[in-house]
Amino acid sequence: MRAYEIIKRKRDGLKLQEAEVRYVIDAFVAGTLPDYQMAAFLMAVFLRGMDEQETFWLTDAMRLSGDQVELRGIEGFTVDKHSTGGVGDKTSLVLGPVLAALGLKVAKLSGRGLGHTGGTIDKLESIAGFSCDLSPAAFVEAVNRIGIAIIGQTPTLVPADKKIYALRDVTATVDSIPLIAASIMSKKLAVQNKALILDVKVGSGAFMKTLAEARELARLMVKIGKQAGRQVAAVLSNMDEPLGRMIGNALEVKEAIATLRGEGPADLVALVKALAQEALLAQDRRLPQAEAASRVEQAIRSGKAWEVFVAMVRNQGGDPALVENPARLPTAKAVLPLVADRSGYVARIECEEVGLAAMMLGAGRETKEAVIDPAVGFHLLKKVGDAVQAGEVLAEVHVDPARDNAAAMRRLQAAYRLSDQPVAAQPLILDIVS
Ligand code: URA
Repeated sequence: MRAYEIIKRKRDGLKLQEAEVRYVIDAFVAGTLPDYQMAAFLMAVFLRGMDEQETFWLTDAMRLSGDQVELRGIEGFTVDKHSTGGVGDKTSLVLGPVLAALGLKVAKLSGRGLGHTGGTIDKLESIAGFSCDLSPAAFVEAVNRIGIAIIGQTPTLVPADKKIYALRDVTATVDSIPLIAASIMSKKLAVQNKALILDVKVGSGAFMKTLAEARELARLMVKIGKQAGRQVAAVLSNMDEPLGRMIGNALEVKEAIATLRGEGPADLVALVKALAQEALLAQDRRLPQAEAASRVEQAIRSGKAWEVFVAMVRNQGGDPALVENPARLPTAKAVLPLVADRSGYVARIECEEVGLAAMMLGAGRETKEAVIDPAVGFHLLKKVGDAVQAGEVLAEVHVDPARDNAAAMRRLQAAYRLSDQPVAAQPLILDIVS
């Protein structure tokens, strides 16, 4: 088979055959197909697209490029959740323990922050000692005993995605629906969970800026998962403002803890409920919606989800005393007020800008080698729909005073868009695809 012919066929808008798609991935991972041909192939896919069948072959070839995480040793209904990436998105920290409290087995594969979006592993590592580095046997044992364990990506899990993503990043081919779907689903399907619940973010802080694009991505990922024999559902949720009020690693852990203790912000609680209900319905399609909703509420109200969270922290090396008393988690040396320069109503909070401002404070990585400061970030006191008086505090900015934080403060200020007219708060759940 010749890479040249395959690139040419895709360039001309033709449908590829299964063997051609698999050849491109296998040869690229083996090092016999050079970067310049892969870059051309990716651009051809970006411009011409792929149909569902081609995207499934691409996903499957990528999945098979590395290890498969075998979960046969886990008794019960295994489930994972994935978010396409957002700002202030600490959903997994709450949802995982809720699902485990409901008797599901959460074998979770998590990632680190990517660009302006945060990552679950970075957040959990703000609990001193917490490690996502579990052996396969320890992972299975913990899921059986506690109901949940979280591992990080290893170099041998879907190496094709790592190599391809690095090229997409520098060839302007990241925002292609089939390439995003294959990237996400190849990693998720490499862990052999029975069900996968997707949180597809829509809006200024997300890869998918419009509801139509998000629906297309969600439908494609659900189809790929079903073709692979898994139960998949997707919740489309609003990312036109950050989720909850806290942005920054330890701050987000603190907000997740408050939510597990029944004192979470309404949007985060609503999203956790929507995702948890989909997981329960994946396990049992006949379960009435109202019953699923009440079970989820009960998992939080009874304190069971909180107990699971503490057990997970202890099992993965974190000190439970730190989460029992969150004031002992990393805390910034200074908190600066961000003050409204005019009166009005909050119309938007540009999510991507908030994420980038948090990165500038030290909450995310500007380079791969950068070290995160777990304590810094934002506490948003005003969100979309709120009335603001000139001089009122919009947000508290948790900083390391040894850094120059002025540019980050300016960026957050500019991310707040005020209007003279009252603004209705936006709906959080935009659609469900299952
Ligand atoms: N997240 C991924 O893992 N891959 C993409 O391509 C985009 C978001």
